[in-house]
Parts: sequence; C-alpha cells; structure tokens
Amino acid sequence: MKGGNTPGSEMRDSKMNINRRRVLQGIGVGAGALSVSGVLAAKAGNQGFTHGVASGDPLSDRVILWSRYKPEGNKSRVDNIIWQVAYDRSFGDLAASGITSTAAARDYTIKVDATGLQPGRHYFYRFEVNGQRSEVGRTKTLPKGSVDRFRIGVASCSNYPQGYFHAYDDMAKADLDLVLHLGDYLYEYAQGRYVNPIAEETLGRVVQPAAEILSLDDYRRRYALYRSDKDLRAAHAAHPWICVWDDHELTNNTWKSGAENHNEGEGVFTERMAIARKVYHEWMPIRTAAQTDQAPIYRAFQIGDLADLIMLDTRLHGRDEQFIYERDIARLGGPETFVKDHLFDPNRTILGADQENWLGAQLAASKDRGTTWQVIGQQVLMGKLVTPVVPDNVTAKMKAQLPDEYSERLDGLKPLAEAKLPLNLDAWDGYPLCRERVHAAFKQLASNPVVLAGDTHNAWAFNMRNYQGEAVGVEIGTPGISSPGLESYLPAPPKLVSELLKASSSEIHDLDTSRRGWTVVEFGPEQMTSTWRFVSTVLESQYSIAESAPLVCNAGAKQFS
Ligand SMILES: [Fe+2]
Repeated sequence: MKGGNTPGSEMRDSKMNINRRRVLQGIGVGAGALSVSGVLAAKAGNQGFTHGVASGDPLSDRVILWSRYKPEGNKSRVDNIIWQVAYDRSFGDLAASGITSTAAARDYTIKVDATGLQPGRHYFYRFEVNGQRSEVGRTKTLPKGSVDRFRIGVASCSNYPQGYFHAYDDMAKADLDLVLHLGDYLYEYAQGRYVNPIAEETLGRVVQPAAEILSLDDYRRRYALYRSDKDLRAAHAAHPWICVWDDHELTNNTWKSGAENHNEGEGVFTERMAIARKVYHEWMPIRTAAQTDQAPIYRAFQIGDLADLIMLDTRLHGRDEQFIYERDIARLGGPETFVKDHLFDPNRTILGADQENWLGAQLAASKDRGTTWQVIGQQVLMGKLVTPVVPDNVTAKMKAQLPDEYSERLDGLKPLAEAKLPLNLDAWDGYPLCRERVHAAFKQLASNPVVLAGDTHNAWAFNMRNYQGEAVGVEIGTPGISSPGLESYLPAPPKLVSELLKASSSEIHDLDTSRRGWTVVEFGPEQMTSTWRFVSTVLESQYSIAESAPLVCNAGAKQFS
C-alpha cells in the first residue's frame, strides 16, 4: 500500500539543505568535524583502516570503540595499535588511551572498551598504527543521576540492494545521545533476491558475496560491503550505537532451532548461527562477554534516573517456531483448535523462560530505583495487529496490480479477517500468552513502559492493552531505512489502508505504511515524544525529509495523548 499521512498526523516537508544547516548548528558540529585531521588520511580499500570507526554500548564511564585495520601482505596479527579518546576533536586533551592488537582470526576488527570516562560527555576517538590514522569518531557516555533530556535515534531494516541509506545520513547529522539499531542491519540474500532492480542495476548497489551468505567468510564479506556505505559509516562515526540482531543478520525468520531461510544443503543450523554470532561480535560495536562471542545479547543500560533501556533478543535466544497459517491451521486441527490449543498455548514463548524472568527483574529493579521510563528495545511488533477486512472491490483493484503470488495472499486474508486473527504471526501476535505475561509484568513491575520495535519496515504507534482492556504501555515501530513496507504488496491508497488497519486493530494510535526513515524518541521527566523522519526517496541521490507531528506520552499515562 502506498501508506501515508494518517488523520491527525500533519506532515511537514523540509528540504535537506535547510535541515542539515539547522541540525549542524544545533549540535555545533561543522561538516568537517568527523574528517581526519591527522597527518595521514585513512585509506579506503584493502589496506589500512578499511571500514571507518564506530562506538557502542556506552555506560556512564566507558564505551566500546571499533575499527578495522588490514595489514599489508599476509600478516596474521597487527600489534601496537594505539587508541585515543579525547575531549576535543584535535586530540590536544586526551581522556584515555592505550594499545591494542587485532588478528586475521577476528577479521582484523579492533574492539576496545575505553574506561575511566566521565558520565554524559561527548568524546572524540581514533586509532593509529604503522603511521596510519583512522577517521575520527565522536561518541558519548550515558549520563548519571538527574537527567532532563535524552534523545534516541531508532533504526532498523537497512537493505543495501533496495536503495540509498539516506536515513542514516540524516541520523548522522541529528542531535542524538544514542542510536538504537533494532535489527536487520544487513540482509543475507543472494544477488537478485529481495532487491529493488533500480537500486541493484542502476545505482550499482549489488551485494557481495554474490550468493546467500553461509560461511564465515561470506558473513564477514557482507558486513564489509555494508560498512563501505558512506551514510552508514557517517552514522556510526557520529553517535554511539546499541544494537540487537533481528533475523537477517542470522537468516530469514529465525527461531531458536531453525529458520525459514535455512534449508537442505546449507549445513548445520547451529553452526551457521555460531558463525553469524561470531561475525556480529566482530563487526558491531557491542560489548562482547569475556571469552565468548556466543553469549546471549539481551542486556540493560541505565540512563540516570530518567530511563532504563532494556534490550531483548526476541529472535534467536528462546523463540519457539513461528506458526504459518497456510501450513499450520489444517495440520493442527482447524481454526478453532489451532487458536485455542496452539497459538494460545501458555508454554509458547518468544523470549525463553530465562530471558522472561530477567526482563521481570529488570523492570522491578528500575521501578525500585524510581526510574521514570522503562524502554524496551527489541525486534518485532508487540502491539496487536489484527488482519483488516478489505472490501471486495478494493481487493479486486489491488489484485490487478500484483503478481499472482501476492494475489493469492490477498485472498487468504479474508478468512483471517473474519476470524479477527493476527496479520503477522512472526511478531508478538504469534506468542499471545507470552505477551500477556509481559504485559502483566509491565503493569505490576514497571512505571512507564515504552516498547520500541523494528522489523515491519513501516511506522506504527500503539496504545497497548492487556486482555482485560487495561492500558499497559505504548509501542513505537520504526520505519525501515530502505527495506520496502506494506505498500509493496498491498497497493491501495494510504488513507484507506490506514482506515482499514485502524478499524481492525483498536490499539493502533498512528501509522504510516508507505515511507522509509527513522524515529527520534526524546525522553524527559514529564513526557516522551516520538517523531518519525521520513525520507522522500531511497532511489535518488538527493532527498528531503518529512517530519511527522510528535506523538506524546505523558509520564503516568501509559498511552499516547
Ligand atoms: Fe527487515
């Protein structure tokens, strides 16, 4: 569907140049601030600091710094890599520094946990070895104590062969304390699969390696390709990131013991996941547990007394297999039995018991500390999205514009809509009693839960309720950076799509089903505001931004105003 401006969501167009000026002025960073000021420029290509810099998992006294240095020849190790953290971008005033090393065994990626820093401060960082310097990155530690304002940029679903990463360019220039990436940082597919032909053929956004990624070398090469994108690199160099994977860093529709896109001839699933985990830890600025890159990635961060950020893994850690209507309803005894005995099986989980218990403990500890907001950063929509009833004449018009495969899917929606079944079983809607337990925890253990989600490529805002109809918290779904949304397989006027979804799904507060972009979420002691920043195109080199009217949730309300 070509989604769009929802009622009450006034869109304001602002040209990129105006935008850029305003944001740069706002944060006091000139266009050259992140370029190299050293004697030797960082080399692109196959030798030297090949893939920029990044930082992540900030705490109040430390932050992970990342880069990659490829030595000349076949050396398997690089020693004496100097890292520096400074208060100023000319590195006249150092805050921390040290020496580290890297090796072929970790794809020459460099990761340092820079400690001894002060809370809530900007820092600049760089690496140096063999007379070569990396680019300069800027990062920020988390604040401590009383915090008046904290701004998070939320991203998900950046698919290289589907268009430009303009949204990352816009994020790089924005005034943010932190970037959260909720997964689908990259996609595993072969050339020609899940691409936009214009992006692939005309813009040259062709993936490497050419085949679907399976081996250690494949996964590494795919990260290297994505990190060659200038906009993605700029966003990494400008802000600290906290990241979790969704399925495509692993493979499509993963669950704890398998995946839709792991098939005969593709090796042992657990071995592929071990590779995907290892390479994620090599290339992403995530704090890697001592001795292992195979540990769970759910983790929590304190943003002073303002917010606790609780990052979940709803994808791999404990997730039971997704149901698929076409496959499972008949196999599992027809619609009623399927829903009652299988979909609503109390043992069914998207988290796993250990992670669910951990989440409850995090919520309780946050409330005990008197923290205002409990921010749950995770992959898939938690809000209830019920299959919409699409009038027959609309279905007929959409079918005329779609390939047969999608046309059949449209026919399949009708009985689901009549039975008020969820639209997407790969989200929390496919694990309803696990969600209900989490909602109970929100109600009993948390003060102000705010769930952040990616995965759908579209923009959503939900007022979540439990099955008793009580408000339990809000959810914001961030649009994809470049991956196509509902408009690509439900071509109908945006206003109509919005009305149909709102009619079927009473928890929807606002939505946009047709545009790419990212989300700014700003937390204060009294309220949280969420604003979508939509890019005008992912297929042309110039773009503009349309900013949505902010959605506001007051502390204590557990729903949008
Ligand atoms: Fe995605």
